Amino acid sequence: MQPLHELADLFDYERAAPARMSEVAWAYISGGAADEHTLRWNHEAYARLRLRPRILTDVSHIDSRVTLLGRQHASPLLLAPCAYHKLAHPEGEIATACGAAAAGATLVVSTSATTTLEDIAAATPDPKWFQLYVQRDRDFTRALIDRAEAANYEALVVTVDTPVLGPRHRETRTPFALPPGLERANLRGFGTATGAHRPSETNIYSALLDPRLTWKEIEWLRTLTRRPFWLKGILNADDAARAADLGADGVIVSNHGGRNLDTLPATIDALPEVAARLAGRVPVLIDGGIRRGTDVLKALALGATAVLIGRPYLHGLAVGGADGVARVIGLVRREFEMAMALTGRRTLAEIDPSVIWR
Ligand code: FNR
Ligand code: LAC
Repeated sequence: MQPLHELADLFDYERAAPARMSEVAWAYISGGAADEHTLRWNHEAYARLRLRPRILTDVSHIDSRVTLLGRQHASPLLLAPCAYHKLAHPEGEIATACGAAAAGATLVVSTSATTTLEDIAAATPDPKWFQLYVQRDRDFTRALIDRAEAANYEALVVTVDTPVLGPRHRETRTPFALPPGLERANLRGFGTATGAHRPSETNIYSALLDPRLTWKEIEWLRTLTRRPFWLKGILNADDAARAADLGADGVIVSNHGGRNLDTLPATIDALPEVAARLAGRVPVLIDGGIRRGTDVLKALALGATAVLIGRPYLHGLAVGGADGVARVIGLVRREFEMAMALTGRRTLAEIDPSVIWR
């Protein structure tokens, strides 16, 4: 395998990753729903956006820091919640947490992690966020939130776009199952820690997901925790406004990486409407298809406060463990800072819609 320093961008890591994991793992990580239009559109949509540079601006000092919910982040890059990191590397989420910390990026830990949220929290002193799948058992859901608070997770990310999993045919063809020894560590003792729990030919529902989730539960969740909480999976302005009305501290424009409902718009196409409606009321993050520093620049120009990357850090994990994760984040951050310099933007405050070529 090539030495990590020869992997120049996130696509080099994507090409190197399959050889480092099982066919089942690669199908699960790389797959999207149905014809995978949205999976492709997520990144392709960025290439359709052109940039409008400013010249002769002193860019000798680029400051990519951003403040989110009162805390300064080294850059506007976070790691999106992804399940089952041990599919990609035996050290799993512990290695991801170490790589994220080394790169100064906040990790959002999945309910379906293959390591307990407590062990992930303890892996590094860096603040982390916890992504919650509301469970059918409300007491268990409350217990998960209490555990995340006790483990000092800085914020909660409630995923609201997955009442059922989408038609992921790559997973059917492999077929997806958690390998022996791997479990959803946070669901231990709850009957869903192991097993595939995917939709079957006769049942679209999964024991891991609650299809009854409504805005009422969001109001209920708001009463359970004083930690900031984000709603992840917002694609339209009305939902974004309602989330803010119900006390969400931020929204994440996401289509789950094209993994659930195919022919949803690319998230970058959905972002402007959400950002315009919220008009700074609460911060807006975005994920989906972000692979280039210019993608980050365009997302911020169109209203995002920060972005999350998903699959690329799993590719880095598979190829190089914690170091691979850190390098993937470093590569996209380096491209982002170059894009800032080459468009004459020195700080995130200077990144606005004028950087997009109309
Ligand atoms: C995900 N995603 C996801 N989202 C979530 O809220 N909880 C989860 O457990 C998972 N699990 C998961 C596993 C894998 C393998 C992938 C690829 C994705 C969705 C994820 O948070 C994010 O929305 C997308 O991955 C972002 O798109 P990109 O960066 O992967 O293109
Ligand atoms: C997925 C679920 C776990 O995208 O969010 O696989």
